[in-house]
Amino acid sequence: MQAGGAPYGLVRNAGIRIRNGRIAWVGAAAGREEQPTEERLDLGGRLVTPGLIDCHTHLVYAGNRANEWSRRLAGATYEEIAREGGGIASTVRATREAVDDDLLDTARDRLHALMAEGLTTVEIKSGYGLDLETELRMLRVARKLGRKENVDVIATFLGAHALPPEHGDNREGYLRLLVEDMLPAVAAEGLADAVDAYCEGVAFTTDEVGEIFERARALGLPVRLHAEQFSDSGGAAMAASLGALSCDHLEYLSPEGIDAMASAGTVAVLAPGAYYYLGETRKPPVEALRAAGVPMAVSTDHNPGTSPMLSLLAAMNMACVLFGLTPEEALRGATVNAARALGLNDRGSIVRGKRADLAVWDVQSPDELSYALGSNPCYRVYKNGVPRES
Ligand code: NIG
Ligand code: FE
Repeated sequence: MQAGGAPYGLVRNAGIRIRNGRIAWVGAAAGREEQPTEERLDLGGRLVTPGLIDCHTHLVYAGNRANEWSRRLAGATYEEIAREGGGIASTVRATREAVDDDLLDTARDRLHALMAEGLTTVEIKSGYGLDLETELRMLRVARKLGRKENVDVIATFLGAHALPPEHGDNREGYLRLLVEDMLPAVAAEGLADAVDAYCEGVAFTTDEVGEIFERARALGLPVRLHAEQFSDSGGAAMAASLGALSCDHLEYLSPEGIDAMASAGTVAVLAPGAYYYLGETRKPPVEALRAAGVPMAVSTDHNPGTSPMLSLLAAMNMACVLFGLTPEEALRGATVNAARALGLNDRGSIVRGKRADLAVWDVQSPDELSYALGSNPCYRVYKNGVPRES
């Protein structure tokens, strides 16, 4: 997938030269001078794409919420369940009780499911600890996964995911803890690559998030936001004004929010899994985002409550069927635009100088990647130019 005239930037009969984990050359194989010292690998005419990137997940947590899934199917809403102390709070209780090894093992199993589909970079958020100790534990588990598994893990601090139960209605108390203790501790230990927040009626207001983000920026951390999922709170415009890397969900995004994101170069991260599981009907304004030139990414938003899916290919399919993306937009959303949402410019496209993170597929055309829901045509993965086991 290179910049170029053909759909997907597709190059037929292509060759890719890899040196020191980077792409050293890409083009039509016929025009390529072979060097005697090179090892040559024939991929049998298969499709090669950038390794997939899931730029929004909550992979580290304990327990599951299948009970809420049944309740929602019987008519209860996500917000009702949250207000009764279920939802995020119930995963917080389970996560606080879990030992680190269990958090690591369960997150690793989930990660392996994503990796089987050609994933080479994943973002993982905290946010089910909501106290200093458990938030740090979650981020350390995410970092450890990145060291142990052959995949890059980008860790995001999501302390502002919900008001923790022990704070009752004391919003100000938790805000102070977040801004004065948690953010500086996370930054001091280098545990997060970015800071996220949940800006919504059931979570934090735009002003509260603004204060958290100002502090994050002062500590040198970029910001991203769960915004406009169930209502238009103006969060996306606020986040964009602070240079947010991405705003995510966006079903209720306003025209002003779109303009602000376009001016700031903020990526719109779509989470069709959450839309699907919650049976939402209001779609993100894809046509307007496209017209404004806002880059769109596609994520699983894997989490135990609203999107327990573990397939980025399925999220790409849903982004096409439910939100109207083209298959090409879906693939860009899970590669180059996902990289951008993470602030990474060294990956996501097959271009000279980029990291040689590649997925090889048993398909005839890239359209097939988001086509056959439930199939996994991944044939092989290269991480930094080296074939990955499994
Ligand atoms: O959809 N951050 C907000 N909602 C999460 C789901 C969290 C949960 O229900 O556990 C999301 O990204
Ligand atoms: Fe999320």
